[in-house]
Amino acid sequence: MTRPLHLLVIDGYARAARDELEAGGATIAATLYERMLLRHAPAGSTVDILFPSDPGAEMPQGAALANYDGLAWTGCSLCVTDESPEVQSQVDLQKKAFAEGVPGFGSCWAAQIAVVAAGGDVTPNPRGREMGLARKIHLTADGRDHPMYEGKPAVFDAFTSHDDEVTGVPDGARVLSSNAWTRVQSVHVKSNNTEFWGLQYHPEYDLYEMARLTWCRAEKLARLGFFVDATDCHRHVEKLEALHADPARKDLAWQLGIDTDVMDAEIRQMEVKNWIRSLLVLFVVLASPALAQFNYDEAKVPKYTLPDPLLCAGGTRVTTREQWTKTRRPELLRAFERHVYGRMPGRPAGMRFETRGVQEDALGGAATRKEIVVHLGPGDQAPKIEILLWVPNAAAKPAPAFLGLNFYGNASTHADPGITLSTQWTRNNKKFGVVKNRATNASRGVRQSRWPAEMIIARGYALATVFYGDIDPDFHDGFANGVHPLFPMKGEAGRAPDAWGSISAWAWGLSRALDALDKDPDIDGTRVAVVGHSRLGKTALWAGASDPRFALVISNDSGCGGAALSRRAFGETVARINQAFPHWFCRNFHRFGGREGELPVDQHQLIALCAPRPCLVSSAAADGWADPRGEFLSLVGAHPVYALFGTNGLPDQIWPKPGTTILGALSYHLRPGKHDATSEDWKAFLACADRHLAKK
Ligand code: GCU
Repeated sequence: MTRPLHLLVIDGYARAARDELEAGGATIAATLYERMLLRHAPAGSTVDILFPSDPGAEMPQGAALANYDGLAWTGCSLCVTDESPEVQSQVDLQKKAFAEGVPGFGSCWAAQIAVVAAGGDVTPNPRGREMGLARKIHLTADGRDHPMYEGKPAVFDAFTSHDDEVTGVPDGARVLSSNAWTRVQSVHVKSNNTEFWGLQYHPEYDLYEMARLTWCRAEKLARLGFFVDATDCHRHVEKLEALHADPARKDLAWQLGIDTDVMDAEIRQMEVKNWIRSLLVLFVVLASPALAQFNYDEAKVPKYTLPDPLLCAGGTRVTTREQWTKTRRPELLRAFERHVYGRMPGRPAGMRFETRGVQEDALGGAATRKEIVVHLGPGDQAPKIEILLWVPNAAAKPAPAFLGLNFYGNASTHADPGITLSTQWTRNNKKFGVVKNRATNASRGVRQSRWPAEMIIARGYALATVFYGDIDPDFHDGFANGVHPLFPMKGEAGRAPDAWGSISAWAWGLSRALDALDKDPDIDGTRVAVVGHSRLGKTALWAGASDPRFALVISNDSGCGGAALSRRAFGETVARINQAFPHWFCRNFHRFGGREGELPVDQHQLIALCAPRPCLVSSAAADGWADPRGEFLSLVGAHPVYALFGTNGLPDQIWPKPGTTILGALSYHLRPGKHDATSEDWKAFLACADRHLAKK
């Protein structure tokens, strides 16, 4: 399918820098980019050019931005880590492009802008400037599978000129190529379901333009030691120009070490050609129901029939608790393993627990704080999970407890300086004190609002939390890190389609933490509530459904793949979640993108797996992405199984107003406001725990 494209080229060079290039006989970056794009775009395509560093430049916004089929950023003489208004306004522009869903592409500064706009990091390359031809760039495993590199050799050289490099890739980003000088030579960034393909190198430069830019930088390059002096540089420039004029000059090609990957525009610009093609394919994809605009309109929810939780695969309907427990529950559990989350292994051999750092007068004397290290194997090298545990001093022991995973390390959940700072991979977030994927002291207490330890302790409950990155770092690396390698399986391609993904790994980690809590004399292992927010709410549900030792299961804003019914396809969909987070679920689940109606299970049955144990689903009214109503309807769908057990199930089956808590064997809480886990939510968790975990 072809049609003309309407593209925007953004050239961040300041006017003076552009003038200097032109004075040196070089073409400005915007023109090079425009020519290159039009070379590959369908006839009739148009390119607008924006110079954002020019005083008074008008940044496109809203519809004006969304009207572009794609944004292409050129290189730039600015430094993305500068906090200057020019830089910030360009980062903001890219953020807006992500928000508006406009795909992006570009060179050098482009990759850096995209990474920074999506929350990653760029820093000066400690090896110094990479200049001229970046040698032996090789495609990573992700790069080899990436549509941008279709038809490109697996190892190539490319023109480059940069001091900075991408050092922290944002969530969901993939490094596509690398060389010995610069780890990130190209990157696929994804934010808000919008893709940006960024190159550190410059396919827009032919030999002549390479020569002219080198000439313009002669003094600087000599100073940096690339040439003996400017004359030496000029000799090199002459050779480049001569080879450009006569590409058959074998002598020059040999002396300069330049091959067809640089000389032949078809090969050199394969990435651009493929990007243009992806924009055209995107029209087709966007027109397909699976990835069309996400639906937030109740009237447009597809008609669906939920699979009956009580109906066995063989066609008989369960009528007794025994039948449920013996036949239907195991069958359903297997179906969730097979089609959604993947199989979890058992306990690892040689697991042991070590308690450390006990402080009996924590939280002003209200609690004892301890840390339990769960060694997942016998030796010191075995991976470990660290539990931060607060025990209420005033409560009778053993005490009931809440157990949940956290996103930024145990130390992020409370400012108490005695908490061990995680040394594991942590999602980059400068604001939260995580730099280069490591938590720093600045991360202490940044997520305290989600973990109101004082309030929980005052109510007589212990609180245990584990950093999810201890169990499995949350990015797709082909299951090489975290606990997956403890239970060896062949490389990803050879992995079974029902092999465990990250959610199963995190849930498995929660069960191991429960093993440890159960051994702790202060904790009543029969009264532990498993709790989690968002992706970790999905995890809490799967842990609670699969491990019957959890006495209460609490999901907060867990949405798609959590409490929300998949068949409603309201907000986030199965297609989108698997595309954005390919490592969360098992491979089989990917097959149901856009085909939710064919799923053998739906999420109400996940809740039913907890029966008759109490389960609380907590939603936020403004969290459309997680489909609050679909989360409620899962409870309604699970009700018949709870009724079979003679419980009151979900006592009120009309979706309530925000600010309501319905308490029953199945409980629901709807908080006004956005996606978050707040003390309001915790009040509902505590009310539910008081009802179900208090000693009778
Ligand atoms: C994304 C994702 C959700 C998930 C959330 C989170 O928004 O699409 O499914 O719940 O991240 O875990 O924060």
